[in-house]
Amino acid sequence: MNKPRLIIDTDPGHDDAIALILAHHFADVVGITTVSGNTSVENGTKNAIRICDLLDTSTPVHRGASAPIASEPSFASEVHGVDGLGGIQLPDPSRSETSDRAIEFLLDSVDTDVWVVAIGPLTNIAQVLTRDKTWFDRIAGLSLMGGGPYGGNVTASAEFNIYFDPEAADVVFRANGNTLMSGLNLTHQVQISEAELESINRASPDDPRTDFIDQNFARIIETLRDLTGTSEVAMHDPCAVFAVTHPELFEFVPREVSVELDGTLTRGMTVVDERWRVTRKQSQIKVGYEVDADAVKTLIYQVLYGD
Ligand code: RIB
Ligand code: CA
Repeated sequence: MNKPRLIIDTDPGHDDAIALILAHHFADVVGITTVSGNTSVENGTKNAIRICDLLDTSTPVHRGASAPIASEPSFASEVHGVDGLGGIQLPDPSRSETSDRAIEFLLDSVDTDVWVVAIGPLTNIAQVLTRDKTWFDRIAGLSLMGGGPYGGNVTASAEFNIYFDPEAADVVFRANGNTLMSGLNLTHQVQISEAELESINRASPDDPRTDFIDQNFARIIETLRDLTGTSEVAMHDPCAVFAVTHPELFEFVPREVSVELDGTLTRGMTVVDERWRVTRKQSQIKVGYEVDADAVKTLIYQVLYGD
């Protein structure tokens, strides 16, 4: 069976790095577009190329938006470090960015068999929709990591990818295109723990890729332990990849989703309408509620460690 064709829109980022590795294993990644979020888009673009180098792949990397539509960037340096990968030593990028025209790439290189997997703020996607309202008709669908029906992580009510650029998210959700939304309610079901990582048998323990993956998990778990007191990390961005490559492991249901733009305490909140309304059926936005977390984690460990 042919692999799904993906474009990954990303702000690498510790979990973005894992998602990129998994996407290249399970799918045909036709391109990567970068966006400001966890770190600056310049850093994110370099990180994306460095991860492609680790995978020995020449996937094109197109630089995108450097700032949200209507606010200043608020990078997640406290979680992902200033450089986006917690200062992990990786060789410098072997090549420069393919272009600084991510929007044009997303407009011109999509096809009805291409899924766009957005695992950072939705600034690029919103700009694409602003320029071409038919875009959703020209792609297979949009699988995004962001938001959630119950609370946030960057504030009590907002998840980071939405909070970073709520105006962009508002454009995307109002477009009501074929969208899979992997929110925190879903991604927090897939937790990788320090204890599990220690128990995994590494097929190639001395491989530079294994070393990066180990450093990547160690850094994010160390950071989250300091921030949250837990020794595990949710596989946020990988869920948005698996929702396309392994849909049988998920349950997504149609819901009307709106984005709060003005609330003092709720700006960036995704308001998922749980009311039984006949209009629910008209929503093309499918919100993820269930995932076979054990099956997803087994796939993650098999790809990352050859276990
Ligand atoms: O809230 C989690 C999301 O924010 C993930 O995409 C992570 O990489 C950060 O961008
Ligand atoms: Ca991300």
